[in-house]
Amino acid sequence: MAILELAPDIYSVGSQDWNRTLFDALIELPRGTSYNAHLIQGSEKTALINVVDPEKEEELVTNLIRLKVSQLDYIIALHTEQDHSGSIPMLLELFPAATILCTQSAKELLGHHLGVDPERCRVIADDEEISLGNKTLKFMITPWVHWPDTMLAYCKEDKTLFTCDLFSSHYATSDLFLTNFAEGEVLAKRFFAEIMMPFRTSIRDYLDRLATLDIEIIAPGHGPCIKPASHIISLYQTWVSDETENLVVIPYVSMHGSVERMVQHFSDILIENGIKVQLYDLTVADTGDIAVSLVDARTLVVGTSTMLFGPHPLAASVAFIANMVRPKTKYLGIIASYGWGGRTVEVLGELTATMQAELLDPVYIQGAPDEKAYDALDALAQTIIAKHKEN
Ligand code: FEO
Repeated sequence: MAILELAPDIYSVGSQDWNRTLFDALIELPRGTSYNAHLIQGSEKTALINVVDPEKEEELVTNLIRLKVSQLDYIIALHTEQDHSGSIPMLLELFPAATILCTQSAKELLGHHLGVDPERCRVIADDEEISLGNKTLKFMITPWVHWPDTMLAYCKEDKTLFTCDLFSSHYATSDLFLTNFAEGEVLAKRFFAEIMMPFRTSIRDYLDRLATLDIEIIAPGHGPCIKPASHIISLYQTWVSDETENLVVIPYVSMHGSVERMVQHFSDILIENGIKVQLYDLTVADTGDIAVSLVDARTLVVGTSTMLFGPHPLAASVAFIANMVRPKTKYLGIIASYGWGGRTVEVLGELTATMQAELLDPVYIQGAPDEKAYDALDALAQTIIAKHKEN
């Protein structure tokens, strides 16, 4: 990757991964990703903030050689997941005098995941400052964005906040700074939905702390840097708030058409009553898109056929994921059909047990929808319409 100067003597030396299509063996990457590493050449000391995925470590080393880095005083590990720390063992060999600055939790995780000698780590305290000479880094310990080990680093002289995964987007680009703000918002929201949403209450507290700093630039661990910083911070303030939109998200799977007909009838009533609806056919839907919808949705309704004794696996998967990403969704509905029996409703209830959404009376019918089924769908729709009006 090209070396680009982010601020005086602060260089972006990480890697763009244009062709990566999947993260965590789950998350689709429509625009690839990047592993951002930043070198700060202070007047007295040199620090590297984050490293890169091991697959890209050759690019990082090449960039350090091109910048004639002969000594590295600090490797700052803001987070231990391998896409930001996997090259640390190689760098510790290359720079035997380098010290890792990290949280206590990161020190332990670096040992478990990468075999890093704890003697090479120095644990940072909350609000601690480290001088590089003409540059000062102030650290903020921020557990759970999105691991227990995370912290942020703020360069006081350049008003730049290094955030690792927080405020990131999976977005390979040749631009050092975000230029297409509309596209950047979509990708940052997708990252938030898939990675950060379960921790939105912690993030809310951290945003309050960040308000005490004068931040001009956000330098995240993935995707372009963001200036003005207020752009992404204000988006996060909306996403982490308790406010929901007048939106019902309906992921569904229909084996023989009954669920499809029910979902269409149900969504038509909502739409005719002024509610925004987003339907996803789970046989073709991108799970990331569904997660993004859940950032704002007031209600989630899962539609599914019954396969053997429970929900179709695609519906079970989306229920599991919704439960995992913990959206602020307030109401949860189930529309399902069965052939001869099964525990579809019970299983979906169990799979979404920690969502903290109110489970509405399900519509669970045998075979194709009849007049009674349509009445039940009307009743569910009217319940949702009333609850949305209350909000
Ligand atoms: Fe939590 Fe980008 O790794």
